[in-house]
Amino acid sequence: MKNTVTTFKNAKLNHEKITMLTAYDYSTAKLMDEAGINALLVGDSLGMVILGYEDTLSVTMEDMIHHTRAVSRGAKDSLVVADMPFMSYQTSVYDAVVNAGRLIKEGRAGAIKLEGGKEVCPQIEAIVRASIPVMGHIGLTPQSIHAFGGFKVQGKDLEAAKKIIEDAKALEAAGAFAIVLECVPAPLGKYITEAISIPIIGIGAGKDCDGQVLVYQDMLAMYGAIQPKFVKVYSQVGESMGEAFKNYIQEVKEGNFPEDIHSFNMSEQMVSKLYEL
Ligand code: KIV
Repeated sequence: MKNTVTTFKNAKLNHEKITMLTAYDYSTAKLMDEAGINALLVGDSLGMVILGYEDTLSVTMEDMIHHTRAVSRGAKDSLVVADMPFMSYQTSVYDAVVNAGRLIKEGRAGAIKLEGGKEVCPQIEAIVRASIPVMGHIGLTPQSIHAFGGFKVQGKDLEAAKKIIEDAKALEAAGAFAIVLECVPAPLGKYITEAISIPIIGIGAGKDCDGQVLVYQDMLAMYGAIQPKFVKVYSQVGESMGEAFKNYIQEVKEGNFPEDIHSFNMSEQMVSKLYEL
């Protein structure tokens, strides 16, 4: 069954958890879709885990469209949500609508996600008016990394918690269909999930959120040194890949790959003619 914004709405009403993972390419998206994931987030985290930047700030609209198209081709039933990259919506309401439209039209996404609270509500309202579903993102918003002074837990004191609650309410009122809540204390995640009528998808926001999202390279231990506390490693895929690459290198160097079963044959007669050429 195709997942849509209605699936998200019903899941909250029926207290069913929503599952979301990041995806950036066709084959991974297809595997996740076949496993039954509700939504695939083409996150601007691709700047770090796919393109090797140190943060998400250099990601362009072209990067996002390119990867969203690939994911959309692999997603039969899951809802594809595409991130709006840094400076594709902060600059004006007009830019926000045009760029959101490109992710739907060219990337074939089913919804877009953008970061920020009250300050981006005019953009959210205008995008929703253009019939494009919007997922909000509050708490730790990586595009504001310089303003935050690093990747830190947000909403730890009462004033900061109050601001995040007000932002969640503002996003709900602006017409967002769901909100990603990143890196806040679990009790704040629970409070916001209960206070807001749209689904709250947590990442480092505790178990009481309506759903969860993880960056797949993190849950498969494929991405280097940084391992946030909120990540659970489900399989040591990075280690398995490293082993496989080492084995391949060794077998090629030793002449043990390819074997006869990996090769195409020719008749003896043809082979002798070959040597007469
Ligand atoms: O870009 C991303 O992958 C995200 C998730 C961390 C929610 O925004």
